[in-house]
Amino acid sequence: MKAIVITRGGAPEALQIREIEPPPLLPGHARVTLRAAGLNHRDLWQRIGYPGPEPMILGSDGAGTVEAVGADDDRAWVGQEVVINPSLYWGDREDAPGPNYQVLGNPTFGTYAESVTVPVENVAPKPAHLDFVQAAAFPLAGLTAWRALFGQGALQPGQTVLLPGIGSGVAGFALAFAKIAGARAIVTSSSQDKLEKAKAQGADFAADYTDDRWEQQVRDYAAPAGIDLVIDHSGEKTLPAGVRLVRPGGRVVFLGVTTGERLELGLRETYFKQVHLVGTMMGSPREFLALCRFIELHRYTPQVNHVYPMEEVAAAHALMEAGGQYGKIVLTI
Ligand SMILES: NC(=O)c1ccc[n+]([C@@H]2O[C@H](COP(=O)([O-])OP(=O)(O)OC[C@H]3O[C@@H](n4cnc5c(N)ncnc54)[C@H](OP(=O)(O)O)[C@@H]3O)[C@@H](O)[C@H]2O)c1
Repeated sequence: MKAIVITRGGAPEALQIREIEPPPLLPGHARVTLRAAGLNHRDLWQRIGYPGPEPMILGSDGAGTVEAVGADDDRAWVGQEVVINPSLYWGDREDAPGPNYQVLGNPTFGTYAESVTVPVENVAPKPAHLDFVQAAAFPLAGLTAWRALFGQGALQPGQTVLLPGIGSGVAGFALAFAKIAGARAIVTSSSQDKLEKAKAQGADFAADYTDDRWEQQVRDYAAPAGIDLVIDHSGEKTLPAGVRLVRPGGRVVFLGVTTGERLELGLRETYFKQVHLVGTMMGSPREFLALCRFIELHRYTPQVNHVYPMEEVAAAHALMEAGGQYGKIVLTI
């Protein structure tokens, strides 16, 4: 199969198209002919840090058609249009993944290829109203936002969620899902343009976090009920403000360390307010199915900003690296 491979870490040009033998199709697995592959920031970090020299196929998000399965029991999947859940080997528990947990796209061959082989539990019927490009845009970031909001975050209709750094893919999905679920959403960004786009998408209040007054503006807007949930994806520079802003007994769900991973946190304030500080990581197969049903029921369409043919993967990576997108970048295969 034709695939975009990487054999050493480096600049976007380190990604090259090659013929690669697909992995063997074992029982319990499905091989999916891919039509589109979505990009995530994870792909950039994998590319930059890849030690080589073995060829690796990056990519966690993909959509296509099941071409073959490894066991007769699963043959009903053959020919079905599917979307791939990149959370591999999650295990049976809902509260946390098991010891074999992996994210698709290193060490397992990923979706920047003509086909991908995944466990059958990692394919789900493609929401019928989405085309392959739209379907390949939501799995990783959408699943992360879903679990953060409704699983770890326990968000209820009528409650208020704060989403700092709305330019992030995960935050963008969280905004869309929170609004569909009937919650009030407050966003922050360093970009006026992104603040305007978020308001057009339904954000109830938008603040510029480069303005020293942003925290007070958010507090004033949320009063008197306050903020029930904060979803923090950037870590060191944002999480302490989330703890200060959340209401007593509220939740701060955190999932990333874009601005660093060392924290100075007022512990007395945190326990006195009885804040729930909860980590989260993508989601389970059950949550992925629930997300797909939610997307189909509400006819939600992910925002795709840039589509590149797979041959132009270096340009797609360069765009993401420059932070030039609002919405997802997708490769057509
Ligand atoms: N745990 C998981 O399962 C999981 C899954 C997916 C991603 N992640 C992590 O989540 C993080 C976000 O990933 P992503 O791909 O969604 O987005 P991303 O593109 O990495 O997010 C970048 C955004 O972070 C915001 N940001 C940067 N500094 C900030 C600050 N000081 N205050 C507030 N916002 C700030 C900026 O928002 P503005 O442009 O609006 O200013 C920027 O656009 C990454 O660290 C990633 O590793 C974790």
